[in-house]
Amino acid sequence: MKRIAVFASGNGSNFEAIAKAIKNGKLKANLVCLICDKKDAYVLERAKKYKVKSFVFSLKKYGDKKTYEEAILKVLESLKVELICLAGYMKIISDTLLKAYNNKIINIHPALLPAFKGAHAIEDAYNYGVKVYGVTIHYVSEEVDGGKIISQGVINYQEGMNILEIEKRIHLLEHRLYVKTLKKLLEE
Ligand code: GAR
Repeated sequence: MKRIAVFASGNGSNFEAIAKAIKNGKLKANLVCLICDKKDAYVLERAKKYKVKSFVFSLKKYGDKKTYEEAILKVLESLKVELICLAGYMKIISDTLLKAYNNKIINIHPALLPAFKGAHAIEDAYNYGVKVYGVTIHYVSEEVDGGKIISQGVINYQEGMNILEIEKRIHLLEHRLYVKTLKKLLEE
């Protein structure tokens, strides 16, 4: 079974979707750790619930991105992690991790890339007035939100939907799509 790590910064609903699918036997993988960059993030509670080892790394403590990522890399290598899944990890992955895990880092983004890159994709799409929303899972490359697309899912806007309803649907779609995509990547 492939050894995976999830990186997250906040709520962690995608982390939980992956952890749950593994626990229920729907996804065959070994979730060896959670890497988190915020000591108060709710995702850390979710990791406890699923008995997944978690590590908190503060960029401030390390001072620069290179030293910070080298410290993360040590943990990943010691746990023999083979695939990194970003799930709401709100930092840009840089050289150190990109080189060590070339084509082995994937990310979920709450929009149909290449539209609405960045940290406020749902809000940006809503303000633009799009009629089709979606989710993208892609490989991580030097270009932020720009790596090769692995899978996408769509949601049609229905008259009267507000941003909270759209967000809710996007998150539900994310959870399904992440598990389905990982299943394909890990089990084929
Ligand atoms: C998700 O919607 C994910 O797509 C997004 O952060 C949210 C995390 O939710 N990621 C990005 O916007 C990356 N650019 P979660 O913590 O509940 O999984």
